[in-house]
Amino acid sequence: MKKRKVAVIATGFTGQQHTEAIRRIPGNEVAALVDPHVAALKAKGQALGVEALYTDYKRMIDEIRPDVIHNCTPNGMHYEINKYALERGIHVYCEKPLALTVAQGEELAHLAAQNHLAAGVNFNYRNNAMVQEMRARVASGAVGRVFHVTGQYLQDWMMLDTDYNWRLTADMGGASRTIADIGSHWFDTAQCAMGQNIVAVRAQTLTVHPFRKKPAQEVETFAKAQKSNYTLVPINTEDAAFLLVRFADGTLGSVTLSQVSGGHLNDFRLEIAGEKCALEWQQERCDTLTVGTREFGIQTLRTAPGSMTGDANRYTCLPGGHPDGWADALKNAVSEFYTSIENGTFAQTGMTYATFADGARIMKLVDACMQSAKSGEWAEVRE
Ligand SMILES: NC(=O)c1ccc[n+]([C@@H]2O[C@H](COP(=O)([O-])OP(=O)(O)OC[C@H]3O[C@@H](n4cnc5c(N)ncnc54)[C@H](O)[C@@H]3O)[C@@H](O)[C@H]2O)c1
Repeated sequence: MKKRKVAVIATGFTGQQHTEAIRRIPGNEVAALVDPHVAALKAKGQALGVEALYTDYKRMIDEIRPDVIHNCTPNGMHYEINKYALERGIHVYCEKPLALTVAQGEELAHLAAQNHLAAGVNFNYRNNAMVQEMRARVASGAVGRVFHVTGQYLQDWMMLDTDYNWRLTADMGGASRTIADIGSHWFDTAQCAMGQNIVAVRAQTLTVHPFRKKPAQEVETFAKAQKSNYTLVPINTEDAAFLLVRFADGTLGSVTLSQVSGGHLNDFRLEIAGEKCALEWQQERCDTLTVGTREFGIQTLRTAPGSMTGDANRYTCLPGGHPDGWADALKNAVSEFYTSIENGTFAQTGMTYATFADGARIMKLVDACMQSAKSGEWAEVRE
């Protein structure tokens, strides 16, 4: 069987994770890696065992002619690279957020549909087995009428004023940082679990470091900066945000987002409280789901094929007692994307992975948050 040629653009944190996930899907070959950072490209090429290495994505696309690209570049490069690939008939799986503006996101979603190409955005948390279990239980009525939805996404890697990354600049990161970077994940996951969209938000944002010390040399994501040799630069994006959300059926919720919360590494939590029970999922213990009841107290469920609800069984790949993790959820997301290419179903609505249309709508949600933070009022998501 002829293998599908897949190219990964950017070899940072996510580029490496995507390369591994792609290789877990039968029929795929990682045909090329791209990164303008030559030393890193060579090192990652060797570590990942990929021979075709390029510093320019256009040259790679024109020479390798991949069937699919994975765009793992900083946000500011997403639009340009996705567009270039879609215009050449290449399927695209892009890291979140889809682009820097709603207009760019909508244009890309339209282009993918027009050229009949699969286009996914890596909102990988929805593809955790226990998030799918939450979704199945809410849909089946096991939670009953939902009272409210609460959560948080807390990190600490931007806690010090010496912490610096490309996400801090508007041209590479975008006008919103914490909401677009991690809030977007919470929105997608909460919407997936609830089976409905968030339609309005009320937001307050907080920037704790109006100036940061930019190191002389670029720092890879989650790496620590040196404490000397820096320039003081003004910061115009939020370190934290406090949001109220309203779902389509009127259910209310709240979420706290922060990249400056000491001791919290990737502390994503989502809780759906209903009349029969409350379901709580914590990303850092992602193979478990807590069910809180009045009659039986607290029950902890663990992933195991065969013991989950319906379709959620597809998302756990290891026998019980062998915990599914972050990389398995990414593999699930990528796998759903490739299955839709295989079956030709990618143009349908309600795909199990986030499509470009979903990604463009999440950008509208982020925009609504920024609008609300400015006005101090609730903001509806523009449909
Ligand atoms: N889904 C998730 O859980 C998740 C987690 C982290 C990051 N992300 C997203 O992934 C993307 C990348 O983030 P990261 O954390 O991997 O960043 P990173 O800083 O670790 O790596 C970025 C890489 O992009 C390369 N690069 C820059 N310009 C390029 C270009 N023109 N062509 C090719 N490569 C280029 C850099 O040299 C670097 O190697 C972002 O959009 C981010 O929002 C998603």
